[in-house]
Amino acid sequence: MSNGPRTFHIRTFGCQMNEHDSERLAGLLLADGLVPAEGDATADVVVLNTCTIRENADLKLYSALGHLKAAKAARPGLQVVVAGCLAQRERGAIADRAPWVDVVVGTHNLTATPGLLARAATEGPVVAVLDAPDPEVARDATPALSAVRDVPYAAWMTIQTGCDNSCSYCIVPDVRGGEISRPLTDLVAEAELLASRGVTEVTLLGQNVNSYGRDLTGRGPLFAELLRAVGSVEGIERIRFTSPHPKDLRPETIAAMAETSAVCPQLHLPLQSGSDRMLTAMRRGYRAERYLERVAAARAAIEDLALTTDIIVGYPGETDEDFEATLEVAAAADYDSAFTFIFSPRAGTRAATLTDQFVPDEIVRERFARLKDLLDRSALAHHAARVGRREEVLVEGPSKRAVDVWSGYTRQGKLTHFPASSDVRVRPGALVAVDIEQAAPHFLRGSVAEVVRAPRHRVRIPLSVS
Ligand code: 5AD
Ligand code: SF4
Repeated sequence: MSNGPRTFHIRTFGCQMNEHDSERLAGLLLADGLVPAEGDATADVVVLNTCTIRENADLKLYSALGHLKAAKAARPGLQVVVAGCLAQRERGAIADRAPWVDVVVGTHNLTATPGLLARAATEGPVVAVLDAPDPEVARDATPALSAVRDVPYAAWMTIQTGCDNSCSYCIVPDVRGGEISRPLTDLVAEAELLASRGVTEVTLLGQNVNSYGRDLTGRGPLFAELLRAVGSVEGIERIRFTSPHPKDLRPETIAAMAETSAVCPQLHLPLQSGSDRMLTAMRRGYRAERYLERVAAARAAIEDLALTTDIIVGYPGETDEDFEATLEVAAAADYDSAFTFIFSPRAGTRAATLTDQFVPDEIVRERFARLKDLLDRSALAHHAARVGRREEVLVEGPSKRAVDVWSGYTRQGKLTHFPASSDVRVRPGALVAVDIEQAAPHFLRGSVAEVVRAPRHRVRIPLSVS
């Protein structure tokens, strides 16, 4: 092993919440004296931050662990950490199946990882999974403030962890515990700090953001206040959030969205199913009609709103009629885009026990394809309606496919490609106006008409050495 500082690499599976947890963990490891490695092939500490919301999570984990076993044989100093939702659920089972894992750390004590690594170095493998979150730890601002973020112009902020609902298919309440909100003043201070470092866009994360603050006040939620407060932070020009629960989408929230100019006109409202019978079985707490009423209220109040959703196909007992209802509601909601999921039984959830009602694979696949077709058509229609418009885009940089094509997102959250510009102000983090010329189901294409604002973060200008 080299004599320099120990290096780490974090591999993240799953949702934005996990991505942000990894950023927070990276900050804590840096503070502990480690430095990022080029990749997991050279790292002294490899962290697998796992997910368990849908299928295959454990397959992916054990295949990654298989590779790491071989790597450990070649590099005895290597330490392996399994963190996140799967670690929380599997606990000791991971240590039994993969005894070469040094640390198994659950979702409630991720911030203890640096200390656990030190302990494992002297005592051998450690399994540290708590049954329940500690509100003090969950509300601690330190990990968020030291988080190592990928880009300097956009940032995630966790406003709330856990979920108090009990949707029958969902493992989240089990692995993330009940809702704990971070104090509003801490979040505003964090947004101010981010803005002072040049962040333009923040995405507020929670499993059920509408009920943000209910545990702090003991009365009502504070989400509308939070939107207004973050919206008044100078420099934060875009606020997004995910996800609100349809049953808790209150008029106050819609009003705050409409009246706070920084809040982007984008609402991700998970429908899950359009059938009232399925919604009851899923314990979602709303009916399709109520869902559509809330969508109509949001559309009436918020100009140019883009609506997106999550839908599950093949929940146990879903009949053709139930599925037709989903198609009808999806058509009526007229989504801009949607994530569609095939029901996946998660051990420990109620839905996973309904084996006698599981829908045969081929029926699920056929329904899934029909739904996707409808959603793609609706996405394309929404995109086509943008052609000829001038949209504000937050520039991200070269697109994945071609270096001479750059990408960014519009305020509605639509991925937009444009030819690389020779204007030096068109850099990652800049806000530009793009004339939209072409539409596809998953992106727009256009050209930069003008620079609205150069990046706010400091950009290091390389010194040329001759
Ligand atoms: N099977 C399929 N999809 C699921 N989701 C959550 N749990 C399951 C499951 N067991 C989907 C829901 C949720 C999104 C994040 O993942 O649609 O909104
Ligand atoms: Fe899961 Fe339902 Fe909570 Fe969302 S609201 S995290 S689907 S239990």
